[in-house]
Amino acid sequence: MESNPLFAAGFGLMGLGAGLAILRQGSVRGFNFLYRQMLVDLEIASKDKSYAWFLEWMSHHPARSSRHLSVQTNFKQHDNGSFTTTFNLVPGPGKHLIKYQGAYMLVKRERSGRLMDMNSGTPFETITLTTLYRDRNLFTSMLQEAQERAQKMQEGKTVIYTSYGPEWRPFGQPRKKRPLDSVILGENVKENVLKDVTDFLGSSKWYYDRGIPYRRGYLLYGPPGSGKSSFIQALAGELDYNICILNLSEMMLTDDRLNHLMNHCPERSILLLEDIDSAFNERKQVADQGYNSGVTFSGLLNALDGVASAEERLIFMTTNHPEKLDPALIRPGRIDYKEILDNASEDQVRRMFLRFYEGEDELCNEFIEKVKLLGHSVSTAQLQGLFVYNKGNPQGAVDMCKFLQK
Ligand SMILES: Nc1ncnc2c1ncn2[C@@H]1O[C@H](COP(=O)(O)OP(=O)(O)OP(=O)(O)O)[C@@H](O)[C@H]1O
Ligand SMILES: [Mg+2]
Repeated sequence: MESNPLFAAGFGLMGLGAGLAILRQGSVRGFNFLYRQMLVDLEIASKDKSYAWFLEWMSHHPARSSRHLSVQTNFKQHDNGSFTTTFNLVPGPGKHLIKYQGAYMLVKRERSGRLMDMNSGTPFETITLTTLYRDRNLFTSMLQEAQERAQKMQEGKTVIYTSYGPEWRPFGQPRKKRPLDSVILGENVKENVLKDVTDFLGSSKWYYDRGIPYRRGYLLYGPPGSGKSSFIQALAGELDYNICILNLSEMMLTDDRLNHLMNHCPERSILLLEDIDSAFNERKQVADQGYNSGVTFSGLLNALDGVASAEERLIFMTTNHPEKLDPALIRPGRIDYKEILDNASEDQVRRMFLRFYEGEDELCNEFIEKVKLLGHSVSTAQLQGLFVYNKGNPQGAVDMCKFLQK
């Protein structure tokens, strides 16, 4: 056999093939080995806070090459009803290359096709960053930069969160903080509430030492347009807090979700329950029609009692009809501080007028007399409407005073 050249050639080829196969496998292994030794991955899941920060940061990072972009539309409605839209081109699903502090990083954004967040309806996503092992420290500084950037964008702003499935999501862009002195309330009302809140925020130890849940509930009540919501927004700005708004009359909200949401507010935020009376009135009517979803009154009480976090918890509630509230809801421990924000007093009318028309003291007195002649009180929102209509025209405001309705 050995002398048969055909066989010899066959063996030779076989050996060569085997050798090549081994070599190839070896090189794959070798590559994997090197990959493991020399490269590091960092995975950021869409659940994580840094996910949005990173995307935002990367969309503004100059040294990047991306062929796949996604659009992120920010829609913002202003107080006057107008709206603006901005488009942010963020890296879309796919691979991107960025250069950060001299190091190259491969960014892979992936959408997991099968896994879906059932509550929000959005697919789960991950971003994987890959770079050389020796550059691994850059991950931290990069994430820090992204976080600082996100923070800077929120500086001087108040973020409004609304519930979205079981989680809190920012609602629109952060809003400019409302200055506290733009809200004109009765004498000392602002000062007293602010003092109470700051006192509370400074006494965590006192609460813990006594085993009292570290939370405080506030109820602001009064007629529509007296500045309840505006005051809470301004207060949040003053304290540098954000606001989580929960709408109790939302049909999708169940007791469980309410409880979960109330216990998982983003840090440094005020929990705001607006129009707390209407939720249960409507529920009654709805229940008669055979619906059964939504929050029950006892569900709300339990959720309020259950709110206990390592952090402080500020809960604000507003209503136009405090008389409709169940005594169980307004007992101390659930609501610890009540304050009425009423229609404008004479003093408030004066301060409102002078805020819009500086130095017009004479016309201001005339205006106040005219308001008195109306024979009924007016809300601060009505006054604001009148003054905005007569922008820069105090005489016009005085003349139109008679149109202020009850
Ligand atoms: N006391 C006030 N000082 C300054 N502006 C006010 C005051 N009250 C109302 N406004 C203005 O009127 C508008 C409505 O006020 P806001 O939404 O705060 O009223 P509200 O008390 O929350 O009313 P509702 O009970 O209907 O929710 C806002 O644009 C706000 O700027
Ligand atoms: Mg309101």
